[in-house]
Formats: sequence, C-alpha cells, structure tokens
Amino acid sequence: MSSNRTTFATKLGVIAAAVGSAVGLGNIWRFPYEAGQSGGGAFLLIYLICVAVLGIPLIISEFLIGRTSHSNVGGAFKKLAPGSHWGIMGYMSVLACFLILSFYTVIAGWTIEYVYQAVMNGFSGKSTVELTQAFTDFSTDTYSPLFWLTLFLLANYLIIAGGVKNGIEKASNIMMPFLFVILIVFCVRSLFLPGASEGMSFLFKPDFSKVNSSVLLSAVGQAFFSLSLGMGCLITYGSYFSKETKLGKTAVTVAVLDTLVAIMAGIMIFPAVFTYGIEPSQGPSLVFITLPNVFQQMPGAYIWSILFFVLLATAALTSTVSMFEVITAFVHEEYKISRKKATALSILVCFVFGVVCSLSIGPWKEYTLFGMNIFDLFDYVSANILLPLGGLLVSLFVGYRLDKKITYMQLTNDESYKVWYYKPLLFIVRYFAPIAIVLIFLSGIGFFGK
Ligand code: PFF
Repeated sequence: MSSNRTTFATKLGVIAAAVGSAVGLGNIWRFPYEAGQSGGGAFLLIYLICVAVLGIPLIISEFLIGRTSHSNVGGAFKKLAPGSHWGIMGYMSVLACFLILSFYTVIAGWTIEYVYQAVMNGFSGKSTVELTQAFTDFSTDTYSPLFWLTLFLLANYLIIAGGVKNGIEKASNIMMPFLFVILIVFCVRSLFLPGASEGMSFLFKPDFSKVNSSVLLSAVGQAFFSLSLGMGCLITYGSYFSKETKLGKTAVTVAVLDTLVAIMAGIMIFPAVFTYGIEPSQGPSLVFITLPNVFQQMPGAYIWSILFFVLLATAALTSTVSMFEVITAFVHEEYKISRKKATALSILVCFVFGVVCSLSIGPWKEYTLFGMNIFDLFDYVSANILLPLGGLLVSLFVGYRLDKKITYMQLTNDESYKVWYYKPLLFIVRYFAPIAIVLIFLSGIGFFGK
C-alpha cells in the first residue's frame, strides 16, 4: 500500500503545503485578538516559548508518525500500534477538524465578503464607528454569511478533489509567497501610523500582571491551533513526505515562518488599534474593523484592500484544505470510499456545522452552553481542549509506544546525516511535554483554583 501512495513532488512543495496549513486565519485573525485579550507582550512571550519547546518537537513527532506509517491519521496509529486503542486518535482528530472547520469556514466566508466590499469600494470614507456597525450588521445577518460560506466550501471541494500534487501543492506554491510580500507592505504602512509606538509596546512589552493560568492555556491553545498541531493534520501531510524530506529542518521552517506571520499580523494591527481608538480586546472582529481603517489612509487603498482580503481568504483556504485532507484521507482509506465522495461528504457535514456556527452569532445568539454561544464553544473546546489533548497523546505515543529506533531512523533519514536533537526530543516527548501540557491544562480550566 505504501509504495504507490502519492507524495509531494518537490521540497518547496512540502514547505509550501505545510506552511500553507499552518499560516491562516489563526495567525492573522486569531493571534492578534487572543494577544489583545490576554495582555499583548506577555502573551507573545509565552506563545514564543510554547512554539519553541512544545511546538517544534511535536511537529517533528507528527511528521514522523505520518511518514513512518504512510497512512491517514487513524490508519497511522493502527499500523504503528496494532491491536491497541490508539486507533481512537483517528476519530478524535476528525472530530477536532470538524469543530475547527465549522467556525473557521464561517470566518473565511467573511473574508470573501470583505473582498467583495473592497471591490465595491465599500470601506471608502467610512469612520471607525461606521465600519464597526457594518461589520456587526453583516456578521449577525442570517443569509449573507451563509452565502459566502457556501462559496468558500465549494472552493475547498475543487482543490481537494484535485488531489495532493495537483490540488494542494500547486495552490500553496502560488499563494504563500504572495501573502508574505503583502504582509510586509502592510507592516511598513502601519509602522508610520500615529499610534505605532503605543501599538508596538502593547505587542512587545510584556506586562506580567496580566498573566494567569487561563492566559497560559490560551497561549498553548493558540500555538497548537496556529501550528496545526494535535489533530492529525501534520501526520496526514507527513504521510505524503518523501524519504528525503528532512523532518527537523522542515518543522523548524514551518514554526519560524508561522510565527513570523503571526508577529507581522500583530505589527500590522496594533498600531492601527491605537491610532483609531479601537479596543485591543475587541475579539474576533478585530481584523475586520482595524484593517479597513488602515487601508483608507494608504495611497492606492482600493487595490491594497482587495489584495489583502484575497490573500487572507487564500491563507484560510490552504488551512481548511489541510483540515479537509485529514478527514478525506481518513474516510477514503479507512472506509474505502472514493476520494471525491469522501471530500463531498466531509464538506457537506462541515456545511451543516458551519450554518449552526454562523447562526449562533446572529439569530441564535441567545442559545448558549457554559456561557458561550456555539461558535465560541467550538473554538474554545477545539483549541483549549482537543488540540492540547491530541498533542499530549502524540507526545506519549512517540515517547513511550513507538520504537525508538524508528524515531532515530526517521530523524536521520536512515542515518544519512547526523542530528543533535534526538535525545533532547525524546526527553521532551517523554517528560517535559506531557507534564507541561497536563499542568497548563488543569490550571487553565481552574483545577488548582483561580
Ligand atoms: N493553523 C491554521 C491557522 O493558523 O489558521 C488552522 C489549522 C489548520 C488548525 C489545520 C488545525 C489544522 F489541522
């Protein structure tokens, strides 16, 4: 089975697809508002530590599970630990993917509405108050978000049905480099706004009085979310790596680029927040309100605003494609359903969940569970519970269940080069990551008292 399974065609394709999965709304939409709600600089610092000491080792772990097994996430654990309960990881990952996809595709739909608005010159001449109102009216509306959601899901279908090489890899190769260029332009523009120094110190100056255990959990959750960790995505992509791909190097590249984009998003957004008197803790609407303000102050605003939202939508697309790929590969390989049918099925299920999430912000906002609407609940449960749990299980699997020889051979590509991090990696997945994740999780949910 493994020999005729497809692989990414080129080294660049591997990086583009993995970075394409990691870089998305998590960096540009979620990171700034999480940082904004959790005190800025202190959150950033904790976030960076999480990426370095938990994120990178776990990315490597997922990659190596994928490449060893050449399987979808469920099949991978079944193959590597036959006769055990580890196969459950498949179902857990698929569940996490659906939960994330259901709110993520709604936001992605919003980004397409903003492309449309930009094309129609809809931001021009509007004050901050008007932009805020326009956003609220749109996002709480019943039908228009659903229209864009449907369109976005169709785009996913076309790419995934195209397959790994022609669909995912080609799309990522084209889109990702563009995104970097445009982010740089926006960062530079933001740095010349009057609120730049205030914005920069909010983002970079840690205020530890804001740090508590729930901030810690949010930072871990955000790191996992942003790196696409803990839900089988990097296992699935790892299964398409060729035997020449260097796992450690690829993992570091993905983590560094992903973090860079998150920081650039912060640099782009916080100066604008302070310039236009927007609350940094505004929440999910932050990007949609701050950026149209920034565009208006730029020469060539019309083109920049279109470009920005097109790229945000495409960054979202390369991420959702990676989540759909987890589900598609799982259903296709484990249940022997054709790839096209598996894709269509997962998109249909996601559509239903997406509709629920979208309506839960508008007409159904009174329906809450644990004090959250469905949208926030799915976000909280996936990022703060399922992803850390997935990460914990991956680290235990590589630490204790997987044969150490396999880990070594995977890290060194069958001893074709030397690595210094074999032992540190084992230490992290055996002891550090499990203990850290459990402690942060328990304190984050208030186990040790608030
Ligand atoms: N990492 C993506 C982002 O930051 O937008 C979101 C994501 C993609 C999460 C794939 C999980 C995943 F498996």
